[in-house]
Amino acid sequence: MIDSCAFSHRISQASRIKRSRIILALDLANGSDLNQLALSTISLLEKYICAIKLNFHLILPLSSSELSKLNRHVHSYGLQSVADIKLNDVPSTNKIAISYLSSMGFDAITVNPFIGTAGLRAAIEQAHELKFGVLVLVYMSHIGAHLGYGINLLGSNSQVTQLYQKFFQDAIACRADGVIVGANRLEILREISCKKDHIPIYSPGVGVQGGNMKQAANNGTDYFIIGRSIIGSKDPLKTAKALRQQFLHLSVDS
Ligand code: XMP
Repeated sequence: MIDSCAFSHRISQASRIKRSRIILALDLANGSDLNQLALSTISLLEKYICAIKLNFHLILPLSSSELSKLNRHVHSYGLQSVADIKLNDVPSTNKIAISYLSSMGFDAITVNPFIGTAGLRAAIEQAHELKFGVLVLVYMSHIGAHLGYGINLLGSNSQVTQLYQKFFQDAIACRADGVIVGANRLEILREISCKKDHIPIYSPGVGVQGGNMKQAANNGTDYFIIGRSIIGSKDPLKTAKALRQQFLHLSVDS
């Protein structure tokens, strides 16, 4: 039963059935009927993706009943739904946020590990009780990300590690369901995908932010989070199909 297993199994199953590693970032611009546009975009592209990701573009303007309906629509196609809110607060408020998102039918959430190991562990334990997944930011794709994620930390043993390495270790220690590393961060992808504790790697940053799917896949990306390259293209269906096809070739090559 796909519904009763952990998020990482559900998305991997969806990915196998759809033969796609693409998570569609449904970043729709302001419009008159966002809800309808979201539903029709999912129907249009469902064959070529394994999940969708909603950020505040839709979570803020849609009502909770519209979001619940949207998630039922997503599930009717065998897809998963990720709420990209980069959760970053104290455990008591994180807990309420996770409960609401889970009750609206989301399958997973993104979390900022800056909350610390105790907060991260609490969020993940609660999420797992609800069969909900947690994806942890490890290294973002935007310009200037090194100013935060690349900061040096001096350990008590005088060893220097970088913040993203600590975030990665925390994600593993707290049993996160995946880590997020930009597709344009090839060295970091390579470094973390070589660790013995394999955890699925989710990569945004393909296309507009300069990431290349083939290079990222060869360096460890498992799932691609793609928004503007599909949504903003002249023919989203053709683009999604071509990107998924590209990945089919990559899977055969690698
Ligand atoms: P594009 O560039 O394809 O963006 O339009 C895709 C989506 O990914 C999100 N995004 C990120 N999320 N870490 C994240 O957790 C990142 O480094 C990152 N870069 C982009 C962005 O919100 C968009 O929905």
